[in-house]
Amino acid sequence: MEVLGVDIGGSGIKGAIVDTASGEFASERLRIETPQPSKPAAVAAVVADICAHFSWNGAVGCTVPAVVKRGVTMTAANIDKAWIGTDVERLFESATGSPFIALNDADAAGIAEMRFGAGRDRDGLIAILTLGTGIGSSLFIDGRLVPNIELGHLIIRGKDAEERATDRARQTKGYSWKQWGKRVSEYLEYLESLITPDLFIIGGGVSKRHHKFFPYIQCKTVIAPAQLRNRAGIVGAAVAALDRM
Ligand code: BGC
Repeated sequence: MEVLGVDIGGSGIKGAIVDTASGEFASERLRIETPQPSKPAAVAAVVADICAHFSWNGAVGCTVPAVVKRGVTMTAANIDKAWIGTDVERLFESATGSPFIALNDADAAGIAEMRFGAGRDRDGLIAILTLGTGIGSSLFIDGRLVPNIELGHLIIRGKDAEERATDRARQTKGYSWKQWGKRVSEYLEYLESLITPDLFIIGGGVSKRHHKFFPYIQCKTVIAPAQLRNRAGIVGAAVAALDRM
């Protein structure tokens, strides 16, 4: 079945029709710049443009880079604070006329990796971490998601891990791959001391350059790069919408 997936990020809002059986796109991918400031109403207008572009009026799965519980955004670490308390599903439904399922962006990426990527056919405890503007995290136990796990904000050396182990930190602080890889390692080693996973899957745009920083990662847990790359959020959102409808 085909479902529209929408991925809301800090710099771009992306959408594509997803073939939920294969995890492939059934359309081209449309990307529109995230409006600044990225208040809910402005983002809803872009989401409506994406639905209109695809002449879509069926179900939509949509990611938000925040904790989302029963359709309501509860946090806003890297997005406009106006999102806190916003019923995203109702907002987008009234902007588009389509039924919406909203979920955390890392949960969506995790769902896609577990179904079609590096976590396929794997059981045990799997942690998927997306290293981008923030650190997104999702946890699966024997294939079942524990939603809204915020492991990206662990405190390391007195600082939120996002200040050390995101791709944004790498770029803004000018870390070499080695310097950054060691920080990512420290984060993963701390995380494994807390949850002892069977597998870490590392996602986010930087995961395509995994050979540059994986050599510096010294945790005991097996690590694997994500496979769906920039498709993960869109695909996971569409699959989640189908599962919940
Ligand atoms: C947020 C998470 C989100 C992650 C990636 C973090 O700052 O707290 O909810 O999944 O960024 O966007």
